[in-house]
Amino acid sequence: MSVQINYKSNNSKKVSSNLVLFVDEKFNINGLKKYVSNSEFLYISDLLKTSDLKKNLLFFEINSKKTIFLVSIKSDMKVSDVEGLGAKFYGYIDYKKKSDYFVNSDTANNKIKNFVGHFLHGLKLKSYEFNIYKSKKDKKLVSINVIGNKNKISLNDQLRFKALEEGTFFARDLVSEPGNILHPDEYAKRINSLKKFGLKINVYDEKKLKKLGMNALLGVGQGSVRGSYLVTMEWNGAKNNSKSLAFVGKGVCFDTGGISLKPAKFMEDMTYDMAGSATVVGLMKNLALRKAKINAVGVVGLVENMPGGNAQRPGDIVKSYSGKTIEILNTDAEGRLVLADALTFTEKKFKPKFMVDLATLTGAIIVSLGSEYAGLFSNDDKLSKQLLEAGDKVDEKLWRMPLHKNFDKLIDSKNADMQNINYVGGAGSTTAAQFLQRFVLNKTPWAHLDIAGMAFSKYGGALNSGGATGYGVRLLNKLIEDNYE
Ligand code: BES
Ligand code: MN
Ligand code: ZN
Repeated sequence: MSVQINYKSNNSKKVSSNLVLFVDEKFNINGLKKYVSNSEFLYISDLLKTSDLKKNLLFFEINSKKTIFLVSIKSDMKVSDVEGLGAKFYGYIDYKKKSDYFVNSDTANNKIKNFVGHFLHGLKLKSYEFNIYKSKKDKKLVSINVIGNKNKISLNDQLRFKALEEGTFFARDLVSEPGNILHPDEYAKRINSLKKFGLKINVYDEKKLKKLGMNALLGVGQGSVRGSYLVTMEWNGAKNNSKSLAFVGKGVCFDTGGISLKPAKFMEDMTYDMAGSATVVGLMKNLALRKAKINAVGVVGLVENMPGGNAQRPGDIVKSYSGKTIEILNTDAEGRLVLADALTFTEKKFKPKFMVDLATLTGAIIVSLGSEYAGLFSNDDKLSKQLLEAGDKVDEKLWRMPLHKNFDKLIDSKNADMQNINYVGGAGSTTAAQFLQRFVLNKTPWAHLDIAGMAFSKYGGALNSGGATGYGVRLLNKLIEDNYE
């Protein structure tokens, strides 16, 4: 069900539709008499005597059009808890009642700035669903109205919440689209359409990539009937010429494994192998929508990894954009090949302040961290710290994993400068990251986020209802907001 959030009314008096009121830890309702009728007040007081006050949400059905919700503000709440609470409230919305919801901001006295904004942000994020391919769908729309004179959310902050929701939803849409629809040709077009928000988009097609010498990226896509692309998205929101922050994403629209073919079971999951790029695209859309006062660039490599008569073979040797040669021992280790060229290109062309790449890069990171943390690999402690802190704040958690020169011997090749897999075995995520690091040529601060376990959630999480999570959009937005604006 989709929700529409309206911030408009100054009137916080009694309403005849569903009403959300905030109360303290103990569900003290003495301050609520202004907002409910006498009989409602007595009714709720009575029921509270036998309610479990440890809960953070209680509801009281008044009549067929009206339910009163009491949401308890615990004293140790963090912003992410408030968002989680909003998401939880989403589960209580009864669409069939066909009556509006009113959220009273006057009652939301709390230390946390924009408490109600965060509550509704969590609710909105949780409400996302991807149903465009269902032929039978009833348009379920619920409107939620914020009322009250106190704890107002500034227009600018409203816009920021909305931009972040739209950026996240855009990323989720891209990840949710199946491989037959969102192939590289279509993906490049969709990114190109973001021009209208003020992003400068450059699409490098195969011809241009060949000229540039991006053979690592091109090799991955050569078995596909679709094109291969590198797309850059620039946002220049800073008044000065400050260095850009760079975000680079793996955009493998479908990963069959190529000639090193994956097993059939769960191969369909590989439609989300472009999630890293989707996060970058969603982030850039968010930055443009909220007119962030920074310079940033997003770079994504878009390919489809297919077997076929023209596909890359195990044993092939390619020369990357960096000039370094790579022996392809396994065509299923393709993400690092795409990112290798994208990273070198980004560093050379934009000379960024830092580069953060995101990729559903290894199954091994799921073995290590499951679906709780993304793996963080970095050559820079300061950037790592900023990322870890941002992740904690928005509850898109990261866990730092090692890089070390001793892993290099595992990817050194007899026949070329390096090979794309480690045949000794072990440390699958680290050797992949160690591989990527070889393509950062000028010591630019760089971080790699392996999000293979985070991009998609079968059962849903705090702020998503299952499916594409949009992981990373809020994390990187927070990184920027807290450290670079
Ligand atoms: N896209 C996969 C990694 C992946 C696996 C993402 C599961 C999400 C869920 C990647 O391209 C891949 O195939 N990696 C191989 C590397 C191996 C061949 C060295 C893997 O993890 O098995
Ligand atoms: Mn693969
Ligand atoms: Zn892949």
